[in-house]
Amino acid sequence: MAAVRVKKIEAEKAKRILKREGIYDGKRRPRRDKEHILLPITDPEKAQSLGFEVVDVELPLRPERQIYKNLESILKEKFTEEELNFLRRYDVIGDIAVIQIPPEIEHRERDIVDALLKVHPFLKVIAKKGFHRGTFRIREYSIIWGERRLTTVHKENGVDIKVDLSKVFFNPRMKGERYRLARLVNDGEKILLMFAGILPYALVIARYKAAEITAVELNEYAVKLGLENIEMNKKKLKGSIRVIQGDVFEVVPRLGTFDRVISPTPKGVDALRLAIEKAEKWVHYYDFIHENKLKEFEERIIKECRELGKECEIKIKKVSDYKPHVFKVCADIRLF
Ligand SMILES: C[S@@+](CC[C@H](N)C(=O)[O-])C[C@H]1O[C@@H](n2cnc3c(N)ncnc32)[C@H](O)[C@@H]1O
Repeated sequence: MAAVRVKKIEAEKAKRILKREGIYDGKRRPRRDKEHILLPITDPEKAQSLGFEVVDVELPLRPERQIYKNLESILKEKFTEEELNFLRRYDVIGDIAVIQIPPEIEHRERDIVDALLKVHPFLKVIAKKGFHRGTFRIREYSIIWGERRLTTVHKENGVDIKVDLSKVFFNPRMKGERYRLARLVNDGEKILLMFAGILPYALVIARYKAAEITAVELNEYAVKLGLENIEMNKKKLKGSIRVIQGDVFEVVPRLGTFDRVISPTPKGVDALRLAIEKAEKWVHYYDFIHENKLKEFEERIIKECRELGKECEIKIKKVSDYKPHVFKVCADIRLF
């Protein structure tokens, strides 16, 4: 297994280069000693050609990957390689596991349930997940084992999040993104969170920063859960959260401007211009973009900014795979 060895003060820059070149191994944990850091990579030859010192070292998998590996090793005893390829990654939300089981291996459901229970003995519900649907982006689930409920409390980044998967959108895989944004925010900032859902972004930011957050969400039930989530976490929050129930495109134009606008935009919705219009310093705009259209996306952001009389600097980060060649991305836009 390979890693590059860099001085600690050069770590962030090196990581950026490795990520840009697509050879940073995000599944593994970096290791630090007094002065250096070992950054996991997937392509030692390429790292060497970029001038990095490459070392051979065993770096541990990140815990969620390790859990998946544990599941995989149990499944391997019972499933063929071909069958295993059908099983995508699963998520654990509170005490509920959600997993995609395609028709090809539906007949092996019992074995999958047994394996999940071995890896996560605390589970109370196992549900099969379908696709996100409609304006509220709610997934379809069918419970295949355990209690007949899709409500739970999920712990993430030091906050408790009450979830009802049958009525609201929630994606536990955005945990890292939420923490990343929380670290970027400064105390005292005024933040607009569009498409706020049950408030996972707002809660994590307010947990760590004394920011004043205005959150807008259309789904009445998500707003109700969001308010319960504020109440449940109120002793831990440094910042404040105000929730407005309504359509972003009706509510936001009536609001003033904010230091920072965050838009976890639902698939198929275009709120880029509105986000830029309402931001004074920063926009974090999520979208789903084909890898061949990243440049076009960047050019569109520049065009929208110019039309609104603003200059900008843009960094586009691939957040997750959506489907082959299409990524969920976050455009971090700095405005001048
Ligand atoms: C992709 S989800 C993100 C939710 C939340 N930010 C999160 O990360 O869990 C998009 C959210 O936007 C809400 N939504 C969709 N259209 C909307 C609109 N026009 N105005 C306000 N909220 C909307 C949906 O109900 C959903 O909760």
